[in-house]
Amino acid sequence: MQIRVLGLACSPRRGGNTEIMLDWALSGAKLSKAAVKKIVVPELNVNPCRACNACFKEGKCVQDDDMQLLYPDLVEYEGIVLAAPIFSMNLAAQAKILIDRLQRFWALKYVLKENVTKDEARRVRRGLWLSAAGMKKNDVFDPAMKTVKYFFAMLEISDYRSVTYCGVDEKGAIRDVPGAKEACMEAGGWVGGPRG
Ligand SMILES: Cc1cc2nc3c(=O)[nH]c(=O)nc-3n(C[C@H](O)[C@H](O)[C@H](O)COP(=O)(O)O)c2cc1C
Repeated sequence: MQIRVLGLACSPRRGGNTEIMLDWALSGAKLSKAAVKKIVVPELNVNPCRACNACFKEGKCVQDDDMQLLYPDLVEYEGIVLAAPIFSMNLAAQAKILIDRLQRFWALKYVLKENVTKDEARRVRRGLWLSAAGMKKNDVFDPAMKTVKYFFAMLEISDYRSVTYCGVDEKGAIRDVPGAKEACMEAGGWVGGPRG
């Protein structure tokens, strides 16, 4: 079985630090022989959740936007990489909007009492969060980590890692961080690597 890895570039700054990290991770996944797909989330038309609760009936979202293109990959791919920087002490809004739109999976799990993913997929799925923040404080990632935990829980991914760098602000500054490229490639190789 070829492992498929979906990379979600969530920063509005194209070619910025988290997109660079994502590209490194996806190259690591490719070295592990995975098939990779990269989506630039800000280029999609994804609306915020409207809290209409229509998903409580059948676990489907009634909004007709690009999220409908993403849903199948989000539940079927064996690897999901979320690349999202810290804005205002949490995940950038582009990532948060996407995560809020997983409300249909929350409804499936907790209202309709169904699984989100197939049994065989659930066993092999892996996740990775890549992030950068301008402040030189390691705990700057703590609030976002809770949201990331929720993100992977909604996708029924229990096996996930994170690679984060604080004190990285200017566009491309991540390239000057010793070991960052290797760490992202290694983590990407793990997400795309062979399963147990
Ligand atoms: C709107 C906005 C809000 C930000 N808020 C924070 C913040 O609260 N804490 C922090 O450490 N960095 C903050 N930053 C800095 C970014 O996290 C940093 O520049 C990061 O490298 C951006 O990654 P990117 O190049 O992938 O967009 C903010 C940047 C922007 C544009």
